[in-house]
Amino acid sequence: MDIKKIMVVGAGQMGSGIAQVAAQAGFETVLHDLNLDIVNKGLETIKKSLAKFVEKGKITEAEKNEILGRIKPSDSLKNAADCDLVIEAVVEKMEVKAKIFAELDQIAPPHAILATNTSSLPITEIAATTKRPERVIGMHFMNPVPLMKLVEIIRGLQTSDEVYQVIEELSRKMDKVPVECKDVPGFVSNRVLQVMINEAIWCLYEGVASVEGIDTIMKLGMNHPMGPLALADLIGLDTVLAILEVLYNGYGDPKYRPCPLLRQYVKAGWLGRKTGRGFYNYS
Ligand code: NAI
Repeated sequence: MDIKKIMVVGAGQMGSGIAQVAAQAGFETVLHDLNLDIVNKGLETIKKSLAKFVEKGKITEAEKNEILGRIKPSDSLKNAADCDLVIEAVVEKMEVKAKIFAELDQIAPPHAILATNTSSLPITEIAATTKRPERVIGMHFMNPVPLMKLVEIIRGLQTSDEVYQVIEELSRKMDKVPVECKDVPGFVSNRVLQVMINEAIWCLYEGVASVEGIDTIMKLGMNHPMGPLALADLIGLDTVLAILEVLYNGYGDPKYRPCPLLRQYVKAGWLGRKTGRGFYNYS
């Protein structure tokens, strides 16, 4: 199967990054969100990221413009009608994703693969909202997408071998390293990572150390490139909470219980970098 045209649904931090790497790999790309204002914000993020690549001498100004020229904005899912692959990257809520997959199933051509960038939700359940569960797969990119090498690939119960192979090959074309993982809550990446992030938030909640203290201990002590609280701010605290809820409900194990401080920050609208305030202040 030959993939030529890709639609990315959701133009937030992940969707814009995925659209960028798709266009960089030479694919015709459609970037979709609820309205064009949001899509244009996503396109601005892509422009800034590509400008940095130009500054670093990794691409030329002409290549930057060619890449941008391959990305078309969209505020209608009907634009999936001539796409070979759709990668969904909207908010981490099953009801929102389920509705989008059911709609995409009606619009996208029968051969099209429907992929989700979900951090933790069951691929099998998302696939069950369509009449093509064998063509639904998890394609979990890391943040920031243009810089991070990993793509965790998750097969649902019914995902076909052909679809898996197409997505594995596509990940390599996007200059990523694909790793296969089973369809369990949080897969491998977030099952491990979010426990650490949640524990760091519990440390803060209990007054064990300051925000900076906790992050410095983990950075210098474990040789991590950034501390868990800074990483939570980068991921988005709403997304961190959503993933912890999936882990907590999915395994029924209290070790995943989200810290009340995280819930409070999300209720306050302190979602991290994207809102200018999280554990750190970005304004
Ligand atoms: P975000 O909050 O930056 O973007 C979400 C986007 O979805 C927003 O632009 C919103 O307008 C759009 N959206 C919401 N409902 C929609 C609908 N019905 N139709 C079209 N667009 C809609 O979130 P982010 O961080 O980009 O996360 C997106 C997905 O990627 C989530 O499933 C998340 O779990 C996953 N993910 C997030 C990572 C992170 O570090 N933030 C890393 C890997 C995966």
